[in-house]
Amino acid sequence: MGEEQSVQSPLLTPYKMGNFQLSHRLVLAPLTRQRSYGNVPQQHAILYYSQRTTKGGLLISEATGVSDTAQGYPDTPGIWTKEQVEAWKPIVDAVHAKGGIFFCQIWHVGRVSNTGFQPNGQAPVSSTDKMIAPQIRSNGIDVARFSPPRRLSTEEIPRYINDFRLAARNALEAGFDGVEIHGAHGYLIDQFMKDQVNDRTDKYGGSLENRCRFALEVVEAVSKEIGPDRVGIRLSPFASYMESGDSNPEALGLYMAESLNKYGILYSHMVEPRMKKVGEKAETHHTLVPMRKAFHGTFIVAGGYDREDGNTAVAENCTDLVAYGRQFLANPDLPKRFELNAPLNKYDRNTFYISDPVVGYTDYPFLDQTISAQTVEA
Ligand SMILES: Cc1cc2nc3c(=O)[nH]c(=O)nc-3n(C[C@H](O)[C@H](O)[C@H](O)COP(=O)(O)O)c2cc1C
Repeated sequence: MGEEQSVQSPLLTPYKMGNFQLSHRLVLAPLTRQRSYGNVPQQHAILYYSQRTTKGGLLISEATGVSDTAQGYPDTPGIWTKEQVEAWKPIVDAVHAKGGIFFCQIWHVGRVSNTGFQPNGQAPVSSTDKMIAPQIRSNGIDVARFSPPRRLSTEEIPRYINDFRLAARNALEAGFDGVEIHGAHGYLIDQFMKDQVNDRTDKYGGSLENRCRFALEVVEAVSKEIGPDRVGIRLSPFASYMESGDSNPEALGLYMAESLNKYGILYSHMVEPRMKKVGEKAETHHTLVPMRKAFHGTFIVAGGYDREDGNTAVAENCTDLVAYGRQFLANPDLPKRFELNAPLNKYDRNTFYISDPVVGYTDYPFLDQTISAQTVEA
């Protein structure tokens, strides 16, 4: 064997994440697919997730609602009812049967919602009563409309923290190995953290410490419920989706990374500064390196990675693991393709969020299918 071949690609080296022995460092990023009709996970998700499972690979589920006030998009799954927990079980079992490690991303959208998604047509809740302006949906045609949110009172906040705790308990009951708290992308937790949104004057607003209180109380409650060794959090300090930006993202990211150490959680999953918008890379001099250095647990990065810069990030110790979103969506056997440096299927953004149980979901070909199809054509 030539010397070059014996040098292993850094992404394909094993890694011990707490009690989990990972066989490689590619992670399935959380990907909302809007195919969970009526907020209940469906049978077709069994195939979708198991296609993307490798022995010793880490998968993060699509964002999953913690309560009946947590939704803002059609057909996203939940984990607050018995029916939802039961529906997750065969999906989680299928991932485990292939040796995968599966974390559930638990989510509350806060004000990224409208009365149509809320129980009894009530107002969505948030840290603020400021409404988001209508936005063009990712298909470039539809417009997402939001309702004026209701600002949560200080006394109500523990109830929303408790919803995350119960969701984490339910996730473990469904068989998940752990949870990822969704603290990114302008949803409820981010609405507390970011100073563009949070205009509160109580202990959950004002100073950086106060704005991060809600996130850290969720981390604490969830960690106490299921153990910190089963808890991760996703943060996007630099992103400004859904009018949720911050005037000092470095300070915010660093404060969170340092504070998370107190709880000893398993991992911190951070979205790259270059991903100001979902799916669009922008040039920036900012990096996640200070947060990586400050955080003591496993570090995961995401946002615009390809094979080459993922390998570089691991080789240079900028991260432990790299999460892949769109490329994993379109290439169920992404680790294999990276290993062989094989060509990739192109993703089709028109089918990201359609409700079809197959098209754009489980019909992206595997490498061997591509090769045999090419052979047949030839
Ligand atoms: C179709 C789609 C759905 C997504 N859903 C979620 C989600 O549920 N939770 C989340 O934290 N991020 C979500 N994201 C963001 C991805 O996890 C990831 O951070 C982003 O796509 C950038 O990584 P990539 O360049 O590898 O695709 C989604 C992105 C896409 C394209």
